[in-house]
Amino acid sequence: MDIRSMQIVIRKAGWRDFGPLLNLQRQVVRESEHLAATRGERKEPVLFAFAKAILHRKRVHTLLALAGNEPVGYITVVFGKFRKVGETAYLVVGVRASHQGQGIGTTLLNEAEKFARSRKMHRMELEVFERNESAVRLYEKLGYQIEGRRREAVKTPNGYSDIIWMGKLL
Ligand SMILES: CC(C)(COP(=O)(O)OP(=O)(O)OC[C@H]1O[C@@H](n2cnc3c(N)ncnc32)[C@H](O)[C@@H]1OP(=O)(O)O)[C@@H](O)C(=O)NCCC(=O)NCCS
Repeated sequence: MDIRSMQIVIRKAGWRDFGPLLNLQRQVVRESEHLAATRGERKEPVLFAFAKAILHRKRVHTLLALAGNEPVGYITVVFGKFRKVGETAYLVVGVRASHQGQGIGTTLLNEAEKFARSRKMHRMELEVFERNESAVRLYEKLGYQIEGRRREAVKTPNGYSDIIWMGKLL
């Protein structure tokens, strides 16, 4: 199925979405072998995560993809903390396994780019496991370029692998 034939709504996450967003992030972590955390490693108490979100609310923004009322994907846009790096937006994106390959990730990335442009960002960047080949292809298709690598940063049962830095100038 394609996103065009589904009822997917993309909107900014608000405070009421905090719990469902946390659950969604945990679910994506459980389902994916291409993220740094593995099942059960994100043990941060909800209150602590909420306090952090309040503290960083001016520079951390999340867009949610909803199928009906159910959050199925998210993209978090983190603006640089200090003035000199304040025009760089760092991205984290995730879509539930059941909804992958349907255009939701592409739409989230495009919406995040619109949002970053509206906030006068100069560049967007992200990190991706080299072995996450479909994700690397997706980012390349959207204009991200490989800018560097963290060699053997990931330890897997099959050996070490790299994390790739990708960036796009707006
Ligand atoms: C990477 C991710 C965000 C892409 O989201 P998505 O909704 O599956 O992406 P789309 O449906 O827009 O797919 C875009 C392209 O990537 C391919 N693709 C990427 N991941 C895929 C997957 N898991 N299953 C099928 N196709 C996938 C699609 O074939 C498509 O290519 P095409 O346009 O040439 O057909 C999503 O797969 C995901 O959350 N994966 C697990 C967590 C993760 O890897 N996050 C990224 C860390 S950097």
